[in-house]
Amino acid sequence: MCGIVGYVGAQQATPLLLEGLTRLEHRGYDSAGIALLGGTGIKVAKRAGRVRDLAEGLPKRFAGRIGIGHTRWATHGPANDVNAHPHTDAKGLVAVVHNGIIDNAASLRQRLADEGIDLVSDTDTEVLAHLVALSEESTLEGKVVEALAAVDGTYGLAVVHADFPDRLVVARNGSPLLIGVGEREMYVASDLAAIVRHTTTVAHLGDGEIATVTAGGFTTYGGDLRPVTRTAETVDVDPAAYETGEHESFMHKEMLEQPAAAARVLSGRLDERFGTAHLGGLNMDARETRAIRRVKILGCGSAYYVGQMGAALVEELARIPADAEAASEFRYRDPVIEADTLYVAVSQSGETIDTLLAVQEIRRKGGRVVGLVNVVGSAIARECDGGIYLHAGPEVAVASTKALTNMFLGFALLALQLGRVRDLSIADGRRLIHGLDRIPEQIQEILDRESEIAAVAEQLAAAESLFFIGRVRGFPVAREGAQKFKEISYRHAEAYQTSELKHGPLALVSEVVPTVAIVPDDELTDRNVGALHEIAARRGPLVVITHADVDLGEVECVRIDVPRNERELDPVLLVVPLQLLAFHAALQLGHDIDKPRNLAKSVTVE
Ligand code: AGP
Repeated sequence: MCGIVGYVGAQQATPLLLEGLTRLEHRGYDSAGIALLGGTGIKVAKRAGRVRDLAEGLPKRFAGRIGIGHTRWATHGPANDVNAHPHTDAKGLVAVVHNGIIDNAASLRQRLADEGIDLVSDTDTEVLAHLVALSEESTLEGKVVEALAAVDGTYGLAVVHADFPDRLVVARNGSPLLIGVGEREMYVASDLAAIVRHTTTVAHLGDGEIATVTAGGFTTYGGDLRPVTRTAETVDVDPAAYETGEHESFMHKEMLEQPAAAARVLSGRLDERFGTAHLGGLNMDARETRAIRRVKILGCGSAYYVGQMGAALVEELARIPADAEAASEFRYRDPVIEADTLYVAVSQSGETIDTLLAVQEIRRKGGRVVGLVNVVGSAIARECDGGIYLHAGPEVAVASTKALTNMFLGFALLALQLGRVRDLSIADGRRLIHGLDRIPEQIQEILDRESEIAAVAEQLAAAESLFFIGRVRGFPVAREGAQKFKEISYRHAEAYQTSELKHGPLALVSEVVPTVAIVPDDELTDRNVGALHEIAARRGPLVVITHADVDLGEVECVRIDVPRNERELDPVLLVVPLQLLAFHAALQLGHDIDKPRNLAKSVTVE
């Protein structure tokens, strides 16, 4: 959420910063700005709108070899030119870009106002620029540390100061910040995407640390300015993963990457001989695994819905009581943390602050947490006691697809491993392994029918309001379908248990309110078909995601059949047509698929 990029070296900074901001736009896209440090001090250009608007409006002579840039997702104050970052002090000596939230901004603003300082923006960030400028410390590092000592909250930030023309200073507390090492030039960024075309050798700043970055290198310090060692490492990543290539959007590209991504998360982890999975990264031996009495899964948004699918898998395969909870609510109800519960944090970005704080709360109280995380080395991955990397590859689209598929498969692996040290038979273990082996090609089969599903989506796009319904295994699928649909089409899409429709929401069903029903071939098929009749009787248009040969009776509907697999694994296939429905509805409505209204990738504020 919000993106930071910075450069110091021999090249002109502006094109590098603009390119970096363009690659960070999925993290926030309501305004953007850059500050350059040149011979005549600090120059700032910023404006509401997209990075391309900023680029078009830049002054002709806007040169400098040190600079910082920011793309914003508004927290304090609306998206306008003044609230865009960078923010400066009154004399324009200091410029700051910041991700995160300063919780005590209101009192700091009052304190500054009492000292006669005019604050020009509504933001929390502006106070930082003034605090750095007011500090009487002799070094920029000292000024930044003194300013941060007054601040409560989270930050990833970069600062330039006209009196220290050779450097950037960066700091981190809760919002990611990395330093990229080039040839006699250095970069800083909140996300590797911003700098991946220039360097993949990076050092991650730890929480509470700051760093000085000059063209010649970087030095890291703790909050007390004592040096700490952070070594830059080369990350194995293909810069093309951050390009849309031949696709019109990242979401489209990422949906189509699912077969390959699914194969990667399973690769090397399935053991046919013993009918189990091997997840060495969990850091648990068989005795510890057997001692688990409960599994509690924590995630946000779609990760939470996949967590519900994961809980069902754990209960079905391992017969351990399991449930999923929204991580954003978890720590606020002062949860009881049990030593024999396995807590599982699930997150694509590994940065979602609500999930990270839930993990910290559990660990503070002595619980064991493992992570299902996509981004290697991310905050949640580092905070957990062990985990499963999802290997989906970089996911850029705000609407998550391939990472969710791999989360489900990660849960299937976890459930298999937990099950096989308990009562799950070797035959059932092998049955599931054969099922998992088929998933990548079966996802491909669904993707190959994109044009057929697109035609259905075009009909749904016309509706202002829709229901997505399912039961038991199908209910989190319906929730994820509704989430994806509303996220990018901006239509009101509400998920309900099919069994609950008649207890209220059926009142809303009419010829203009379609229902997308999840009706797999399972023990509930007949009851699901009964509900379809009830909807059809009220003239509600129906789209049914089901399996071939499921008899839907005389119900008038559009059906989309998905390939059969083992019942426990059904959700991962049932969800793929829902991604395509949401994508094509949004396309039909002319929305910006990768940058949906009001949202951003990686929610790093509470
Ligand atoms: C998914 O399409 C959403 N953009 C969102 O709900 C997301 O899943 C959620 O914010 C959690 O993100 P994470 O997986 O990076 O933690």
